[in-house]
Amino acid sequence: MQELEPSWPGDPRRELAAGLMQAAAQIAPKFFYDRLGSALFAAICQLEEYYPTRTERAVLSHCGEDLATVAGAGRTLIDLGAGDCVKAERLFALLKPQRYVALDISADFLEASLARLRREHHGLVVNGYGCDFTSDWALPDEVPRDSRLFFYPGSSIGNFSPEEARAFLARLRANVEADGRLLIGVDLVKDPATLVAAYDDALGVTAAFNRNVLLHVNRLLGADFSIADWCHVALFEPVQSRIEMHLEALRPVSVSWPGGGRKFSAGERIHTENSYKYRQEDFAELLTLAGWNSVRCWTDSRRWFAVICARAA
Ligand code: AVI
Repeated sequence: MQELEPSWPGDPRRELAAGLMQAAAQIAPKFFYDRLGSALFAAICQLEEYYPTRTERAVLSHCGEDLATVAGAGRTLIDLGAGDCVKAERLFALLKPQRYVALDISADFLEASLARLRREHHGLVVNGYGCDFTSDWALPDEVPRDSRLFFYPGSSIGNFSPEEARAFLARLRANVEADGRLLIGVDLVKDPATLVAAYDDALGVTAAFNRNVLLHVNRLLGADFSIADWCHVALFEPVQSRIEMHLEALRPVSVSWPGGGRKFSAGERIHTENSYKYRQEDFAELLTLAGWNSVRCWTDSRRWFAVICARAA
């Protein structure tokens, strides 16, 4: 974990090259979030088709005092994938946190958000760290261990496979004492047309978000992808209950980077993201396996999205 550094954590070159060289090429979704990618994701969250953000917001706004009772007030609120920090900020009045800790892969983007929070919330202790949740991580010692409340909204948990999600939730459990809590947003299974539209919007913002990853890869790896060669593909895979995003080569493409390169035939794809959609009972089971007890679940009237509060088991 790094204190707000503009550099990308870990060894992105090795990871990217290995992913691109696989028979079925892939780029991990964490690479979406450079400065432009984070801004494009913020735009996605405003789209009519992208229901998760506004549905989760509506669910949270209807929890009211119930949320404060179950999640507990006066805690250290730890925002996982904080971005612009606005989702957590909406809970400040209800949860009255002692301290706010923001973690995000894009430390660059986070820095501006934290400066605003410090200006607007006097008295609140605010810390921020660049953090890659897909690698080994633990909170720094300066974050008090007791009374931690992890906040993981937006169904970001869906970007892990179920096995990875279990390991991630277990890691969260290892980062709290017996009084720890978790507040998590989970996107639920629904009709495929609604799901696909959310990841293939008419305006093409999600397509731009997906294709922008190639520009980020160019900078990180020194590669020479041309985005004009690639189109956005989003589909629902029902057996695994997940949306898949891919980039598909429009023509034969040859890409190179220092020390490597690869040819793609027309129609060949690079897998860029999975977004798993859960049944409520399956997610509750996942929490149990990871050492959490689900204590309350709030959903919208269509049961499209769930916000779950869990306590350390
Ligand atoms: C961040 N994550 C929860 C989003 C999702 O819905 O899986 C990322 C995203 N990808 C395309 N649109 C949104």
